[in-house]
Amino acid sequence: MTTLLPVHTAAAPRARRLPSTGALPAALTDAFARPMRDLRISVTDRCNFRCVYCMPKSVFGRGYAFLDRDELLTFDEITRIAGVAVAHGVHKLRLTGGEPLLRRGIEELIERLAALRTPDGEPVEIALTTNGSALAVKAAALKAAGLTRVTVSLDSLDDAVFQSMNDVRFPVDRVLAGMQAAHDAGLGPVKVNMVVKRGLNDHEVLPMARHFKDSPFTLRFIEYMDVGTSNGWRLDEVVPSAEIVELIGAELSLEPIGAAAPGETAARWRYVDGGGEIGVISSVTNAFCGTCNRARISTEGRLFTCLFASEGHDLRALLRGGVDDEALAAAMGSIWGARDDRYSEVRATLTPELRAARPKPEMSYLGG
Ligand code: GTP
Ligand code: 5AD
Ligand code: SF4
Ligand code: SF4
Repeated sequence: MTTLLPVHTAAAPRARRLPSTGALPAALTDAFARPMRDLRISVTDRCNFRCVYCMPKSVFGRGYAFLDRDELLTFDEITRIAGVAVAHGVHKLRLTGGEPLLRRGIEELIERLAALRTPDGEPVEIALTTNGSALAVKAAALKAAGLTRVTVSLDSLDDAVFQSMNDVRFPVDRVLAGMQAAHDAGLGPVKVNMVVKRGLNDHEVLPMARHFKDSPFTLRFIEYMDVGTSNGWRLDEVVPSAEIVELIGAELSLEPIGAAAPGETAARWRYVDGGGEIGVISSVTNAFCGTCNRARISTEGRLFTCLFASEGHDLRALLRGGVDDEALAAAMGSIWGARDDRYSEVRATLTPELRAARPKPEMSYLGG
């Protein structure tokens, strides 16, 4: 069960000691029989946006101590971890951050990851979650390097609202241009992530739905989450997905459709008139831990078994200590085998004091 640990700050969490290694099955499953299918890799803890729900300026200001270059995993190290994961059941790699396109040479990393093959000889899917600011420039090169598809964050179509959320005056039209460039480069289907925060952008739900209906872009509404400790999360600022589906459905008829992949984060709905689909990611009101197959590698190489895990397991120390692939695989297998995380399912049972007291890594460090 999840244990509660003493208060500590938004700084990077401590590393957990690695459990002893053991024999490794071909496909890894955890304490609740959930396989490891999806590996999310944070390639930088930096971002050129300061979204209020993720990297508020009050915490991530000028004096904020981001990781030094030599603390980041190198491309060799990332490729080794990903290679071991793919050899043991991972089918999808997702590059995140921070803003992953800020990591210098990201195309080279993608090329190396694209060369990996599953035990059946299949290539892996390589996705990337971005704020879109560099996509207009980089989309074609990312595609050429072997990237499969991108997901772009966009919280409003209204410049005043969007800029109040990204807090760096970044305009909507440049994100839209980046999304279009990604689509044109063949990085589709491009998904659009909108985090909905009550009182800030909930009045943009319908305009966003109308805008992306009948387009090649799939809009997904994300419930504002209590990730990290710096965004001042409050339950009454979460807009439940059911409310969003009802709001949109009242104007544009919707019907539910099944998951596209096992353990998917989003519940999917399609427009009855054939105008495409939307997704809702309901981590707060309808947790999806039961099928969660996602492992995360933080920017400095710690393996986290949950977005809300208090601590990560230090794979970088193993790599820099000269571990071979077999021992690395055994360590990862034993960490995943012991996994019993289900934070979003237990969140509702925690008092606000207990939630606040729980150390949680920031999403910009851990990866979304
Ligand atoms: P697809 O492969 O396109 O389905 O993407 P995805 O939903 O796996 O990835 P994406 O980065 O677009 O995730 C969407 C959002 O869902 C994230 O930004 C998080 O806010 C949230 N999310 C993703 N994975 C988890 C998870 O394991 N737990 C929780 N609580 N939220 C998650
Ligand atoms: N709650 C929900 N989603 C969040 N994201 C960042 N912070 C939060 C939060 N507190 C989303 C971003 C991006 C993805 C990586 O995570 O908007 O789409
Ligand atoms: Fe940057 Fe994405 Fe966080 Fe916004 S949500 S600050 S774009 S990492
Ligand atoms: Fe997975 Fe943790 Fe998210 Fe639940 S809260 S879905 S276990 S990452």
